[in-house]
Amino acid sequence: MTAATHTPRVFSGIKPSGGLTLGNYLGAIKRFVDMQGQDYETIYCVVDLHAITVWQDPAELKNATREVAAGFIASGIDPTKSILFNQASVPQHAELGWIFNCVARVGWMNRMTQFKDKAGKNAEKVSLGLYAYPSLMAADILLYHATHVPVGEDQKQHVELTRDIATKFNNDFKCDDFFPMCEPIIEGPATRVMNLRDGSKKMSKSGESDMERINMTDDADTIAKKFKKAKTDPEPLPESLDGLSERPEARNLVNIYAALSDTTNEAVIAEFGGEGWGKFKPALADLAVDKLAPISTEMKRLMDDPAEIDRILLAGADRAQEIAEPILQQTYDIVGLLRPKR
Ligand code: AMP
Ligand code: TRP
Repeated sequence: MTAATHTPRVFSGIKPSGGLTLGNYLGAIKRFVDMQGQDYETIYCVVDLHAITVWQDPAELKNATREVAAGFIASGIDPTKSILFNQASVPQHAELGWIFNCVARVGWMNRMTQFKDKAGKNAEKVSLGLYAYPSLMAADILLYHATHVPVGEDQKQHVELTRDIATKFNNDFKCDDFFPMCEPIIEGPATRVMNLRDGSKKMSKSGESDMERINMTDDADTIAKKFKKAKTDPEPLPESLDGLSERPEARNLVNIYAALSDTTNEAVIAEFGGEGWGKFKPALADLAVDKLAPISTEMKRLMDDPAEIDRILLAGADRAQEIAEPILQQTYDIVGLLRPKR
């Protein structure tokens, strides 16, 4: 079997470790929607097992899991076209994750920049799960023999590690290309949306101040206020793209505008080059409200009926297991583990 014979299949996931941000939307969800209904089978997962690598309040975790699912659906993921489920409902993820813990090397994990960032000076005190996190992520992807993984820029190293795990497994067990070489898909103007108060940091769910991020559930006034207060320099927008290279905050706002309006940075500069922030920021806020308001309204509507979200996730988990179970069964067999057929 060569990689080309693997069914084109997309897998990606988002952690329910807080509310969804504009970074999640532009860097991931919007692109998941674009890939749906093309030539791929699309599988999207709320990765709750990844979320608990750092402390999560149990009641909030359930709510956040449903909210991420609602965010997917409200943004255009159609549970009849894509498989949508939460990771904990498909125990095969944890099973394959353990096998990969025995394939991946400690040295590989030590090189992971996200772990170093998250652990900081506290590396001795963080959970073992946080350290092994990329091995479980490899399991998420390879459990479906996924070939394409749309993610934001920060996940590139993890997808590369997934390829290393697949290669080592295939070599160690002499099983050709049982696990495919998946491709990270990191495209578009907003693969790394930055913090609105500090253009050197990523916009994230867990940043200290709410003013540094746009939440997908923010109302119109809040969105306008956050963009108005977003850090910028005093210069107007440049006349050409080169003029953005040393201006991280300006570049970030241009990237966001381009991604929200499905255009390029060049087109945004062609329209706004030479204009001041007093003109650009309100235009950006209006655009963001235009795009996000219908999504947040739909998210709220879906969240009013949690039982319906649970039903969708469960139906997705059943479909996910139909693909995952035979692949896991084969993996156990390759490794020499006895596991009754389910
Ligand atoms: P997480 O919220 O860490 O589970 O991230 C889920 C997905 O959103 C991943 O594909 C991330 O790369 C993407 N993502 C998260 N934050 C950002 C950001 N600030 N800019 C672009 N993509 C992001
Ligand atoms: N690690 C990803 C993040 O923090 C989330 C994730 C878990 C993921 N498993 C995945 C993304 C599999 C893509 C594919 O954003």
